[in-house]
Amino acid sequence: MMITILVTGVGGPAGYGLARQLIERGYRVVGTDMRSISVPGIAVYRVPAADDPTFVETLRALTRASRAALVIPTVSEELPILACETDWPAPIALGPHEGVLLANDKWLTWQRLSECGVAVPRAMLPSHIQNADHVAQALGWPCLAKPRVGRGGRGVTLYHAADIDALRARDDRFIVQEFVPGVEYAPNVCIRHNGRDIVVPLRKTALKQGIVGNAAQVVRDDSSDVAALACAAGRALGLSGALDIDIRRRNDGTPVVLEVNARFGANSAYAPEVLGALLEDFGLRQRRYPIVPVSLLSVVI
Ligand SMILES: Nc1ncnc2c1ncn2[C@@H]1O[C@H](COP(=O)(O)OP(=O)(O)O)[C@@H](O)[C@H]1O
Ligand SMILES: [Mg+2]
Repeated sequence: MMITILVTGVGGPAGYGLARQLIERGYRVVGTDMRSISVPGIAVYRVPAADDPTFVETLRALTRASRAALVIPTVSEELPILACETDWPAPIALGPHEGVLLANDKWLTWQRLSECGVAVPRAMLPSHIQNADHVAQALGWPCLAKPRVGRGGRGVTLYHAADIDALRARDDRFIVQEFVPGVEYAPNVCIRHNGRDIVVPLRKTALKQGIVGNAAQVVRDDSSDVAALACAAGRALGLSGALDIDIRRRNDGTPVVLEVNARFGANSAYAPEVLGALLEDFGLRQRRYPIVPVSLLSVVI
Protein backbone atom coordinates (compact mmCIF):
# COMPACT_ATOMS: atom_id res chain seq x y z
CA MET A 1 0.00 0.00 0.00
CA MET A 2 1.47 3.33 -1.00
CA ILE A 3 1.18 6.20 1.43
CA THR A 4 -0.49 9.28 -0.04
CA ILE A 5 0.68 12.82 0.62
CA LEU A 6 -1.35 15.80 -0.55
CA VAL A 7 0.84 18.70 -1.72
CA THR A 8 -0.75 22.05 -2.57
CA GLY A 9 0.58 24.29 -5.32
CA VAL A 10 2.32 21.55 -7.32
CA GLY A 11 2.45 23.89 -10.32
CA GLY A 12 4.71 26.29 -8.40
CA PRO A 13 8.43 25.84 -7.75
CA ALA A 14 8.05 24.94 -4.04
CA GLY A 15 5.24 22.43 -4.58
CA TYR A 16 6.80 20.89 -7.65
CA GLY A 17 10.22 20.43 -6.02
CA LEU A 18 8.62 18.85 -2.98
CA ALA A 19 6.33 16.53 -4.97
CA ARG A 20 9.28 15.21 -7.01
CA GLN A 21 11.18 14.35 -3.85
CA LEU A 22 8.18 12.58 -2.34
CA ILE A 23 7.71 10.48 -5.47
CA GLU A 24 11.43 9.57 -5.42
CA ARG A 25 10.94 8.44 -1.85
CA GLY A 26 8.12 6.12 -2.90
CA TYR A 27 5.04 8.10 -1.84
CA ARG A 28 1.93 8.63 -3.90
CA VAL A 29 1.42 12.35 -4.40
CA VAL A 30 -1.92 14.01 -4.96
CA GLY A 31 -1.47 17.65 -5.90
CA THR A 32 -3.54 20.81 -6.14
CA ASP A 33 -3.12 23.97 -8.12
CA MET A 34 -5.20 27.01 -8.97
CA ARG A 35 -4.54 26.48 -12.64
CA SER A 36 -5.56 23.44 -14.62
CA ILE A 37 -2.18 21.78 -15.17
CA SER A 38 -0.77 18.31 -15.58
CA VAL A 39 2.32 17.10 -13.78
CA PRO A 40 3.80 13.69 -14.71
CA GLY A 41 3.25 11.10 -11.99
CA ILE A 42 0.82 13.21 -9.96
CA ALA A 43 -2.97 13.44 -9.96
CA VAL A 44 -3.52 17.19 -9.92
CA TYR A 45 -6.82 18.74 -8.82
CA ARG A 46 -7.77 22.30 -9.53
CA VAL A 47 -8.70 24.26 -6.40
CA PRO A 48 -9.97 27.82 -5.94
CA ALA A 49 -7.64 30.59 -4.74
CA ALA A 50 -6.99 30.61 -0.99
CA ASP A 51 -9.24 33.66 -0.43
CA ASP A 52 -12.18 32.04 -2.21
CA PRO A 53 -14.94 31.09 0.27
CA THR A 54 -15.01 27.53 -1.12
CA PHE A 55 -11.24 26.93 -0.85
CA VAL A 56 -11.22 25.34 2.60
CA GLU A 57 -14.13 22.99 1.92
CA THR A 58 -12.65 21.95 -1.44
CA LEU A 59 -9.29 21.07 0.11
CA ARG A 60 -10.96 19.36 3.05
CA ALA A 61 -13.01 17.16 0.70
CA LEU A 62 -9.92 16.34 -1.36
CA THR A 63 -7.97 15.42 1.78
CA ARG A 64 -10.72 12.97 2.71
CA ALA A 65 -11.19 11.57 -0.80
CA SER A 66 -7.46 11.02 -1.38
CA ARG A 67 -7.01 9.37 2.03
CA ALA A 68 -3.90 11.46 2.49
CA ALA A 69 -1.70 10.60 5.47
CA LEU A 70 -0.31 14.14 5.44
CA VAL A 71 -1.11 17.48 3.80
CA ILE A 72 1.80 19.78 2.94
CA PRO A 73 0.72 23.27 1.85
CA THR A 74 3.31 25.18 -0.21
CA VAL A 75 1.24 28.20 -1.33
CA SER A 76 1.94 31.29 0.81
CA GLU A 77 -1.63 32.64 0.60
CA GLU A 78 -3.05 29.35 1.90
CA LEU A 79 -0.96 29.28 5.06
CA PRO A 80 -2.76 31.88 7.25
CA ILE A 81 -6.11 30.37 6.22
CA LEU A 82 -5.18 26.74 6.87
CA ALA A 83 -3.46 27.67 10.13
CA CYS A 84 -6.90 28.70 11.50
CA GLU A 85 -8.49 25.35 10.67
CA THR A 86 -9.06 22.67 13.27
CA ASP A 87 -10.21 19.07 12.93
CA TRP A 88 -8.65 18.58 9.53
CA PRO A 89 -9.18 15.04 8.20
CA ALA A 90 -5.38 14.45 8.09
CA PRO A 91 -2.36 16.00 9.81
CA ILE A 92 -1.21 19.26 8.16
CA ALA A 93 2.49 20.12 8.01
CA LEU A 94 2.06 23.70 9.21
CA GLY A 95 3.20 25.63 12.27
CA PRO A 96 0.89 27.04 14.94
CA HIS A 97 -1.62 29.74 14.00
CA GLU A 98 0.13 32.68 15.68
CA GLY A 99 3.55 31.95 14.19
CA VAL A 100 2.12 31.48 10.71
CA LEU A 101 0.35 34.87 10.95
CA LEU A 102 3.56 36.56 12.13
CA ALA A 103 5.54 35.03 9.26
CA ASN A 104 2.87 36.04 6.75
CA ASP A 105 3.39 39.76 7.43
CA LYS A 106 6.97 41.05 7.11
CA TRP A 107 6.35 43.93 9.54
CA LEU A 108 4.99 41.58 12.24
CA THR A 109 7.90 39.23 11.56
CA TRP A 110 10.34 42.12 11.92
CA GLN A 111 8.75 43.29 15.17
CA ARG A 112 8.77 39.84 16.78
CA LEU A 113 12.33 39.07 15.72
CA SER A 114 13.59 42.48 16.97
CA GLU A 115 11.86 41.93 20.33
CA CYS A 116 13.52 38.52 20.60
CA GLY A 117 16.98 39.87 19.75
CA VAL A 118 17.17 38.05 16.39
CA ALA A 119 19.20 40.18 13.93
CA VAL A 120 17.07 41.97 11.30
CA PRO A 121 17.70 44.92 8.94
CA ARG A 122 16.79 48.34 10.40
CA ALA A 123 13.19 49.01 9.36
CA MET A 124 10.16 51.30 9.65
CA LEU A 125 6.72 51.79 8.14
CA PRO A 126 6.23 54.45 5.43
CA SER A 127 4.01 56.51 7.78
CA HIS A 128 6.97 56.84 10.20
CA ILE A 129 9.11 58.65 7.61
CA GLN A 130 9.67 62.36 8.26
CA ASN A 131 12.17 63.41 5.58
CA ALA A 132 15.28 62.30 3.69
CA ASP A 133 17.58 63.07 6.66
CA HIS A 134 15.41 60.98 8.93
CA VAL A 135 15.69 58.01 6.54
CA ALA A 136 19.46 58.59 6.21
CA GLN A 137 19.80 58.40 9.97
CA ALA A 138 17.37 55.57 10.64
CA LEU A 139 18.07 53.27 7.70
CA GLY A 140 20.70 54.86 5.44
CA TRP A 141 20.36 55.37 1.68
CA PRO A 142 19.62 53.53 -0.49
CA CYS A 143 16.78 51.79 1.27
CA LEU A 144 14.22 49.32 0.09
CA ALA A 145 10.45 49.01 0.28
CA LYS A 146 8.57 45.74 -0.15
CA PRO A 147 4.98 44.62 0.43
CA ARG A 148 4.41 43.34 3.98
CA VAL A 149 2.40 40.48 2.52
CA GLY A 150 3.86 39.24 -0.72
CA ARG A 151 6.20 36.76 -2.29
CA GLY A 152 8.49 36.07 -5.19
CA GLY A 153 10.27 39.40 -4.92
CA ARG A 154 7.19 41.19 -6.29
CA GLY A 155 7.03 44.90 -5.52
CA VAL A 156 10.56 45.11 -4.04
CA THR A 157 11.90 48.58 -4.92
CA LEU A 158 15.18 50.27 -4.16
CA TYR A 159 14.98 54.00 -3.28
CA HIS A 160 17.73 56.64 -3.31
CA ALA A 161 17.62 59.95 -1.41
CA ALA A 162 16.24 61.71 -4.51
CA ASP A 163 13.23 59.36 -4.44
CA ILE A 164 12.05 60.51 -1.00
CA ASP A 165 8.65 61.69 -2.30
CA ALA A 166 7.95 58.40 -4.03
CA LEU A 167 8.97 56.54 -0.89
CA ARG A 168 6.71 58.68 1.29
CA ALA A 169 3.84 58.02 -1.11
CA ARG A 170 3.86 54.35 -0.12
CA ASP A 171 1.23 53.30 2.41
CA ASP A 172 1.68 51.08 5.43
CA ARG A 173 1.00 47.93 3.47
CA PHE A 174 4.75 48.23 2.78
CA ILE A 175 7.78 47.87 5.03
CA VAL A 176 10.84 50.06 4.46
CA GLN A 177 14.21 48.50 5.27
CA GLU A 178 17.90 49.24 5.30
CA PHE A 179 19.32 47.85 2.04
CA VAL A 180 21.53 44.92 3.01
CA PRO A 181 24.03 44.50 0.17
CA GLY A 182 25.88 41.25 0.91
CA VAL A 183 25.61 37.57 0.08
CA GLU A 184 22.11 36.09 0.30
CA TYR A 185 21.15 32.70 1.77
CA ALA A 186 18.01 30.59 1.76
CA PRO A 187 18.45 28.41 4.81
CA ASN A 188 16.08 25.42 4.68
CA VAL A 189 15.07 24.56 8.21
CA CYS A 190 13.06 21.92 10.07
CA ILE A 191 12.07 23.07 13.57
CA ARG A 192 11.39 19.94 15.58
CA HIS A 193 9.61 19.20 18.84
CA ASN A 194 12.54 17.02 19.93
CA GLY A 195 14.78 20.12 19.70
CA ARG A 196 17.07 18.52 17.12
CA ASP A 197 16.44 21.15 14.45
CA ILE A 198 17.81 20.61 10.95
CA VAL A 199 19.28 23.56 9.02
CA VAL A 200 20.88 23.61 5.59
CA PRO A 201 22.09 27.12 4.74
CA LEU A 202 21.78 27.25 0.96
CA ARG A 203 23.66 30.19 -0.58
CA LYS A 204 22.05 32.00 -3.51
CA THR A 205 24.68 32.28 -6.24
CA ALA A 206 22.38 34.15 -8.66
CA LEU A 207 19.22 36.17 -8.13
CA LYS A 208 16.34 36.40 -10.60
CA GLN A 209 16.14 40.20 -10.62
CA GLY A 210 19.88 40.91 -10.39
CA ILE A 211 20.56 42.51 -7.01
CA VAL A 212 17.33 41.34 -5.38
CA GLY A 213 14.86 38.53 -5.87
CA ASN A 214 14.36 34.81 -5.69
CA ALA A 215 17.29 32.46 -6.14
CA ALA A 216 18.01 31.45 -9.71
CA GLN A 217 20.74 29.14 -8.40
CA VAL A 218 21.85 27.87 -4.98
CA VAL A 219 24.70 25.84 -3.48
CA ARG A 220 24.99 24.19 -0.08
CA ASP A 221 27.04 26.23 2.35
CA ASP A 222 28.33 25.60 5.85
CA SER A 223 27.95 29.09 7.37
CA SER A 224 27.21 28.26 10.99
CA ASP A 225 26.24 31.86 11.87
CA VAL A 226 23.53 31.80 9.18
CA ALA A 227 22.36 28.38 10.33
CA ALA A 228 22.09 29.54 13.95
CA LEU A 229 20.27 32.73 12.97
CA ALA A 230 17.77 30.79 10.84
CA CYS A 231 16.90 28.46 13.73
CA ALA A 232 16.64 31.37 16.16
CA ALA A 233 14.21 33.13 13.78
CA GLY A 234 11.99 30.07 13.39
CA ARG A 235 11.90 29.51 17.14
CA ALA A 236 11.28 33.22 17.95
CA LEU A 237 8.18 33.09 15.75
CA GLY A 238 7.01 29.91 17.48
CA LEU A 239 7.00 27.99 14.21
CA SER A 240 7.53 24.29 13.66
CA GLY A 241 8.20 22.05 10.68
CA ALA A 242 9.74 23.08 7.37
CA LEU A 243 10.73 26.73 6.84
CA ASP A 244 12.39 28.62 4.01
CA ILE A 245 14.14 31.71 5.35
CA ASP A 246 15.85 34.60 3.54
CA ILE A 247 19.02 35.96 5.15
CA ARG A 248 21.57 38.49 3.86
CA ARG A 249 24.92 39.69 5.12
CA ARG A 250 25.69 43.34 5.77
CA ASN A 251 28.99 44.69 4.43
CA ASP A 252 30.57 43.91 7.82
CA GLY A 253 29.49 40.28 7.42
CA THR A 254 26.64 40.29 10.00
CA PRO A 255 23.76 38.12 8.82
CA VAL A 256 20.22 39.54 9.18
CA VAL A 257 16.81 37.94 8.54
CA LEU A 258 14.84 39.38 5.59
CA GLU A 259 11.81 37.10 5.83
CA VAL A 260 10.55 33.74 7.03
CA ASN A 261 8.34 31.53 4.86
CA ALA A 262 6.44 29.03 7.00
CA ARG A 263 6.66 26.34 4.32
CA PHE A 264 9.05 24.48 2.03
CA GLY A 265 10.84 26.73 -0.46
CA ALA A 266 11.70 26.31 -4.12
CA ASN A 267 15.09 24.73 -3.45
CA SER A 268 14.18 22.04 -0.92
CA ALA A 269 15.70 19.33 -3.16
CA TYR A 270 19.11 20.70 -2.16
CA ALA A 271 18.30 20.05 1.49
CA PRO A 272 16.66 16.61 1.53
CA GLU A 273 17.40 16.24 5.26
CA VAL A 274 14.61 18.74 5.96
CA LEU A 275 11.94 16.60 4.30
CA GLY A 276 13.43 13.49 5.91
CA ALA A 277 13.09 15.04 9.37
CA LEU A 278 9.56 16.27 8.70
CA LEU A 279 8.35 12.85 7.52
CA GLU A 280 9.95 11.23 10.55
CA ASP A 281 8.22 13.72 12.86
CA PHE A 282 4.85 12.82 11.32
CA GLY A 283 5.59 9.14 11.90
CA LEU A 284 5.83 8.31 8.21
CA ARG A 285 8.17 5.48 7.52
CA GLN A 286 11.43 6.36 5.89
CA ARG A 287 12.11 4.56 2.67
CA ARG A 288 15.49 3.90 1.22
CA TYR A 289 16.07 6.15 -1.72
CA PRO A 290 19.16 7.12 -3.66
CA ILE A 291 20.37 10.58 -2.70
CA VAL A 292 21.72 12.28 -5.82
CA PRO A 293 24.82 14.27 -4.90
CA VAL A 294 23.90 17.94 -4.92
CA SER A 295 26.73 18.69 -7.34
CA LEU A 296 24.94 16.52 -9.92
CA LEU A 297 21.55 18.18 -9.56
CA SER A 298 20.80 20.60 -12.33
CA VAL A 299 19.61 24.06 -11.41
CA VAL A 300 16.14 23.91 -9.91
CA ILE A 301 13.60 26.36 -11.43
N1 LIG B 1 16.45 44.64 3.42
C1 LIG B 1 16.85 44.10 2.27
N2 LIG B 1 18.10 44.37 1.78
C2 LIG B 1 18.50 43.85 0.60
N3 LIG B 1 17.75 43.06 -0.19
C3 LIG B 1 16.52 42.75 0.25
C4 LIG B 1 16.01 43.24 1.49
N4 LIG B 1 14.75 42.76 1.64
C5 LIG B 1 14.50 42.01 0.55
N5 LIG B 1 15.56 42.00 -0.29
C6 LIG B 1 15.66 41.33 -1.59
O1 LIG B 1 14.37 41.15 -2.14
C7 LIG B 1 14.05 39.75 -2.23
C8 LIG B 1 12.60 39.53 -1.88
O2 LIG B 1 12.36 39.97 -0.56
P1 LIG B 1 11.77 39.02 0.54
O3 LIG B 1 11.81 39.75 1.85
O4 LIG B 1 12.44 37.70 0.48
O5 LIG B 1 10.25 38.91 0.09
P2 LIG B 1 9.48 37.88 -0.88
O6 LIG B 1 10.42 36.76 -1.22
O7 LIG B 1 8.33 37.45 -0.04
O8 LIG B 1 9.07 38.70 -2.07
C9 LIG B 1 15.02 39.05 -1.29
O9 LIG B 1 15.27 37.72 -1.69
C10 LIG B 1 16.26 39.94 -1.44
O10 LIG B 1 16.98 39.64 -2.62
MG1 LIG C 1 11.87 35.76 -0.16
